Amino acid sequence: MTQTDSERILSLLRQMSLDDKIGQLWLVQSDEGRVSERLASSIREGRVGGVLNEVDPSVVDELQRIAREESPHGIPLLMGRDVIHGFRVMAPIPLGLAATWNPQLVERCARRAGEAAAAVGINWTFAPMIDIGRDPRWGRIAETFGEDPFLIRAFGAAMVRGFQGGDLSVPGAIAACAKHFAGYGASEGGRDYNTTSVPEIELRNVHLPPFRQLVQEGVATFMASFSDLNGVPATANAFLLDQVLRQEWGFDGLVVSDWNSVIELRTHGLTADDRGSALESAAAGLDMEMASDAFAAHLADLVREGHLSEERLDVMVGNILRVKERLGLLDASPPASPSASSIESSLHTAYEAAVESIVLLKNEGDVLPLSGVGKLAVIGPLADDPYEQLGTWAFDGDPSLSQTPLGAIRGQAGEMQVEVCRALDTTRSTGTNGFAEAVAVAGRAEVALLVLGEEAILSGEAHCRADITLPGAQEALIEAVASTGTPIVLVVMAGRPLALTNVLPHVEAILYAWHPGTMAGPALADILFGGRSPSGKLPVTFPKHSGQIPIYYAHKNTGRPPTPNTVVSMEDIPVRAAQTSIGNTSFYLDVGDQPLFPFGFGLSYSAFEYANLRVSASELAMGETLTVEVDLTNVGGCEADEVAQLYVRDPVASVTQPVRQLRGFQRIRLASGETKEVVFTLHTDDLAMVNRSMEWVTEPGRFEVGIGGDSRAPLAAAVEVRA
Ligand code: BGC
Repeated sequence: MTQTDSERILSLLRQMSLDDKIGQLWLVQSDEGRVSERLASSIREGRVGGVLNEVDPSVVDELQRIAREESPHGIPLLMGRDVIHGFRVMAPIPLGLAATWNPQLVERCARRAGEAAAAVGINWTFAPMIDIGRDPRWGRIAETFGEDPFLIRAFGAAMVRGFQGGDLSVPGAIAACAKHFAGYGASEGGRDYNTTSVPEIELRNVHLPPFRQLVQEGVATFMASFSDLNGVPATANAFLLDQVLRQEWGFDGLVVSDWNSVIELRTHGLTADDRGSALESAAAGLDMEMASDAFAAHLADLVREGHLSEERLDVMVGNILRVKERLGLLDASPPASPSASSIESSLHTAYEAAVESIVLLKNEGDVLPLSGVGKLAVIGPLADDPYEQLGTWAFDGDPSLSQTPLGAIRGQAGEMQVEVCRALDTTRSTGTNGFAEAVAVAGRAEVALLVLGEEAILSGEAHCRADITLPGAQEALIEAVASTGTPIVLVVMAGRPLALTNVLPHVEAILYAWHPGTMAGPALADILFGGRSPSGKLPVTFPKHSGQIPIYYAHKNTGRPPTPNTVVSMEDIPVRAAQTSIGNTSFYLDVGDQPLFPFGFGLSYSAFEYANLRVSASELAMGETLTVEVDLTNVGGCEADEVAQLYVRDPVASVTQPVRQLRGFQRIRLASGETKEVVFTLHTDDLAMVNRSMEWVTEPGRFEVGIGGDSRAPLAAAVEVRA
């Protein structure tokens, strides 16, 4: 209960029995597609606050009818679903959405998905996931917006605006959920559900800012992470759920557990039994239990025996009722389900997102765009697979709507001959029987297009990989095709950055397409044939080798940073060289310190020049704003988008800072030969960091700034911030 609660909520709380209240705290798994007696009677008895995973509109209607007409207080249900990157029509996976560097477009994707879900009665999505994705081994990196808190904040906020709109009670709006609070992305070794150990200062600097931003955006709900944070699993972590979220940030929505994460407190070794788990999580600040039933089984006794106060229980119930009220569910006539937005508009948005998400990593000899090619070989298991291109979390994705690369290429081929060879059954196949045909087909063609990568099931929750190279025999397939001498254009569809080190020398071009969703085909074909220039930029660093992980651009300098001169190759080290002969700096003997492709990187069919970087002042007083400008020219031959990126460095601080941090970005369309002034503003608050007392402060001193096309942009200007 808060001071601001409506009379309606206060009066409900006064009328509800202990059991009625506890009923609101349970989010129950549906029986997918039917109204089972188990679920119907639980709802009728007032023992259910919400249901997840029911997408049959007639079942949803019946469950809501029972709740409204037959349950003790007639309180409708929250209807939850993982609407992550689409519903029926799928946009790219979130990591691909982040590669667009276009939050407005991603907001539209969320809007379309939310409306389609709302049309079947869903009123709550478990998205956006705003965990930090710095480990490509972790399967859930696919669901992140990449490695950078600033970028994640922008996309998380865009998704909340898309799902929720300005008013949750308007038809088509659904409640969003900031997850997984917090630190999940730091799972040790990139193995899902693993322990996380994150010092408070790093938690506050890196992991928490996206969550804080979403509270400011009015996100309706939070989900506690499965993971153990510094010895106290997030589901029972009062520092996170109470101190930070409620007291510091003033969040007044509801906090739900992750699937079974209440009863898993026992497995973690925090509690002896489910009763202990219910008490620990409820007391720490959790409001609603997903799937398992420890609250339902034990909270009443815990309250009666005085272990959990009734005041705390009322706060939990109040948090849930508040979200229901905001959704309009407590109104006399709750909002009718809207009709679904048209498939055409969803397909159009998904197409735009797919086009803007595709990153051109290499284009030797301008092999792309394909022009004047008479014969094209299309090879690989992902060239024509309507299911796999949808990626992870696509259980509401409709593969029958998918447009595949092969289909779209044939559609645009005109006079060009297209010869096709699958070569491998799946991306994991190790058999090489199909290689001879692939070599023959490639040998007859002028260009070989290989569509490879990872099937959807190789990334996502619980699908982690220690070896992040192309799986199965795909590297060998590339080498076999390369032996024909036919130039290779490699299209990669994957849920994570793959280590492409071995294949890089064998291919002329690489388009990194993530899992692009329903409209993979038209998006890729338009880029391949030059209808659109590639404009995606990497939201995550690509390592050369998984042994380099963690590798991210905003690293600290260390006391002994590597310089290009100190990095040697292992073969160059003389036998029995003296211990200090190659110096003592921070790099790997076998792979150095550099990534394969840096954060923010992405090529275009055009080319861009940044010139005349300038700042509006050489000194700033606290509270003032600096303008940072650059002239951006399209010096290439075609119209194209460029994503200009603003980086900042605080070289001397009371707590050591990253070598650079993203503080702004803009997607800009330029005609060939056109120049535009790109203007960023930086308030002194944008230069803040967490100090040793865990406070956000801007420390006086010199800050370096730069604007460029990726995270290697020179920081060529500076400003002095005065106390
Ligand atoms: C995932 C959550 C998801 C939930 C409900 C869990 O396994 O960690 O992200 O929202 O399931 O499907």
